[in-house]
Amino acid sequence: MILTGLGCGMKPRYRVMVSDQQTEYTCRQDENLLSEALNQGIRAIKRGCLGGGCGFCKVRVESGRYELGKCSVKVLTPEEKERGYVLACRTKPLSDLMIRIEK
Ligand code: FES
Repeated sequence: MILTGLGCGMKPRYRVMVSDQQTEYTCRQDENLLSEALNQGIRAIKRGCLGGGCGFCKVRVESGRYELGKCSVKVLTPEEKERGYVLACRTKPLSDLMIRIEK
């Protein structure tokens, strides 16, 4: 976790490591993984609708805690959720994360 800005009321910023692409970036607790990656010029995660409906941004969280918002069961099934899959556009970090992008 990176604590910069906490004294100003900002949310904590966490490290997001992309295990299969040897890259990493940071994500604020109140931002989603995809938007923060795009804002920092990281193009490792596929961009689609940005609204939880297409599934292009599906990644697997290998370690760390997160909050997953609403998303279509057509693109992310309950079984996938149990196995750690998330939609990056609907996921906010609650700790440092290790993610994997599977083709
Ligand atoms: S970009 Fe479409 S579900 Fe995330």
